[in-house]
Amino acid sequence: MSKTKKPIFILAPMDGISDRAFRQIIKGCCPPDLFFTEFTNVDGLNSVGVENTKDRLIHPKTENNLIAQLWGLKPENFYKTARAISNQKYGQFLGIDLNMGCPDKTVTKNGACSALINNRELAKEIIEQTKKGLSKGLTISVKTRLGYNQVDLTWIEFLLNQKLDYLIIHARTKKELSKVPAHYQYFTDIIKLRDKINIQTKIIANGDILNYRQGIDLAKKYNLDGIMIGRGLFQDPFAFSPISPWTKYSVNQKIELFKKHINLFEKYWEGKKPIVLLNKFCKIYISNFSGSKDIRQDLMESKSVTELKTKLDKLL
Ligand SMILES: Cc1cc2nc3c(=O)[nH]c(=O)nc-3n(C[C@H](O)[C@H](O)[C@H](O)COP(=O)(O)O)c2cc1C
Repeated sequence: MSKTKKPIFILAPMDGISDRAFRQIIKGCCPPDLFFTEFTNVDGLNSVGVENTKDRLIHPKTENNLIAQLWGLKPENFYKTARAISNQKYGQFLGIDLNMGCPDKTVTKNGACSALINNRELAKEIIEQTKKGLSKGLTISVKTRLGYNQVDLTWIEFLLNQKLDYLIIHARTKKELSKVPAHYQYFTDIIKLRDKINIQTKIIANGDILNYRQGIDLAKKYNLDGIMIGRGLFQDPFAFSPISPWTKYSVNQKIELFKKHINLFEKYWEGKKPIVLLNKFCKIYISNFSGSKDIRQDLMESKSVTELKTKLDKLL
C-alpha cells in the first residue's frame, strides 16, 4: 500500500465474521488496503487458553496486509503478544490495533475495551507496552469511540498524544452502541486536533459507511485519511469496489460465491467451528431475489456442510 494513498480503505474487525475465510472472500471480490482480524484476547493468548485463542491470528502467507486487533487487561500480555507478532509467530502482520471501543458488557465489566475510555492510566500503559514489544516498521493503532456516555474529545486528544500511526474512530459513544446514526460532524474538530497535536496520526472514520462511494465522499468532506467498512459488506461484498457488480449478480453467481465461502470455512475450521456459524453469512448471498427468504430458512437448518452444499447445488 502506498504511504501517500488517501483515503485508504480498511475491512473492519468483526468478531465471528472477519476470519480467514471471510477475508479471503472479500479479497477475491475487491480487496481493501488493509484487513483487520477479529479482536483477540492477549490474556488468553498468554494462558492455558492459547490453543483456542491463537486461531484468530494465524493466517496463510497470502494474507500480507493484515493488522492484528488485540484486547485485554494486562499490559505485560500486550508486550508479550507484540513481541510474538513481531517475531511472526502467527504469520506476517503489518501492525497491531488495540480495541478501546467494544461496548459489550462481557468485556467492559472487567474494565477492558471501551471501559478504557474511563481508565486512561491503564490505556496509556497498554499502548506503551505494546509499542515496547513491537518491532520497528510495524504500526500501532487504536480503534475507539467518540466517548463513553457522551462525546468526549479529551479522550481523542489523549489518544493523539500517544503518537499512534492510525486512530480509528467509530463515530458513536459507547452508550449509543449502534442505535443512532454515526456522528460524522465531530471529524471537523478531530482533524483540527490531529493537525495541532500529531500530524503523523492518520484519522480513519468508521460507522454506517456502506461502500466505496460513500467513503470517498465522507473522506473528501472531512479531509479524512481513511475509511473503515464493516456491515456494509453484508449488503455488498464488493463494497470496496468503485464500481460494484453486485446488483447485477445472478442468483447462480451468488450461490457460487457462497459455495466458495463454505469451502474456505471447511478448509480452515472443520472440526473447530460449528456449521451454524455459517448462518451469519447466508444473508449476504441468499437475498434480494424471489423466494430468497424461504430458501435461506431452509439452508440455515442444514446439519452439515455436505447437506448445505447439496441444497445449494440443487438450486443452481
Ligand atoms: C458482528 C460484529 C462483530 C464486531 N466485532 C468487533 C471486533 O472484534 N473489534 C472491533 O473493534 N469492533 C468490532 N465490531 C464493530 C465494527 O468493527 C464497527 O466498528 C461497527 O460495526 C461500525 O461500523 P460499520 O457500520 O461499518 O459496521 C463488530 C461489529 C459487528 C457487527
